[in-house]
Amino acid sequence: MSKQPQIIVALDFDTVKVALDFVEPLSPTQCRLKVGNELFTRGGPDLVRRLVDLKFSVFLDLKFYDIPNTVAQACLAAADLGVWMVNVHALGGVAMMTAAQKALQPYGTKAPLLIAVTALTSYNDSEWQGLGFKQDINASVLHLAQLTQQAGLDGVVCSAQEVALLRAQFGPSFCLVTPGIRLEDNAHDDQQRVVTPQAALAAGSDYLVMGRSITRSPEPVAVLAKLNEAIDLRL
Ligand code: C5P
Repeated sequence: MSKQPQIIVALDFDTVKVALDFVEPLSPTQCRLKVGNELFTRGGPDLVRRLVDLKFSVFLDLKFYDIPNTVAQACLAAADLGVWMVNVHALGGVAMMTAAQKALQPYGTKAPLLIAVTALTSYNDSEWQGLGFKQDINASVLHLAQLTQQAGLDGVVCSAQEVALLRAQFGPSFCLVTPGIRLEDNAHDDQQRVVTPQAALAAGSDYLVMGRSITRSPEPVAVLAKLNEAIDLRL
């Protein structure tokens, strides 16, 4: 499957209507869509099916974390919805990730991409080590990405700061999905370490998750068009 479009718009809306009104003028050739915990809890599988029916590639960002059998079954349910990408927590362990990966095998080329969250970027080092982990958070991210690759998953969600290192370590076919992206003239909101789309792609990111830079713009279609043009021209 082509990597285009590389922008994944995070539909962080609190009602289904607002989300669908936002999506209405967008085209699946311009962007993919991410449905996370908030919107899924509001809109459920029906909303995901509607977006899939509109031909959008949907990233179901529910970060599954449970015993292997439960996570494998949840991934199957996601595949049945026709989503393009689904994710789990790498902290669930190799057995859990392997079970999820095996569950998707029968879908062949129609299987969603399966990626893992390593350490949530909301943790700082002292919080992380306070949980009892012996390594610092950066070393843990690398270790968890290694376990993810070992379990046969397609890639990880990572901050743009980690992209170059992970790309060098895990090779060209490991999928790197990067949030925390801001256009040059945007507010940072609650993101601490932000990177521009161009810098994240140049560092080796495959897909950029972008929320408020696009969803809060008065002209989301125009912002996406400008972004895609810059990506096409490798600006
Ligand atoms: O609005 P903004 O561009 O900051 O939205 C980023 C999106 O990426 C949100 O849906 C957020 O939950 C998600 N995300 C993140 N950091 C991570 C993982 C996911 O910001 N480490």
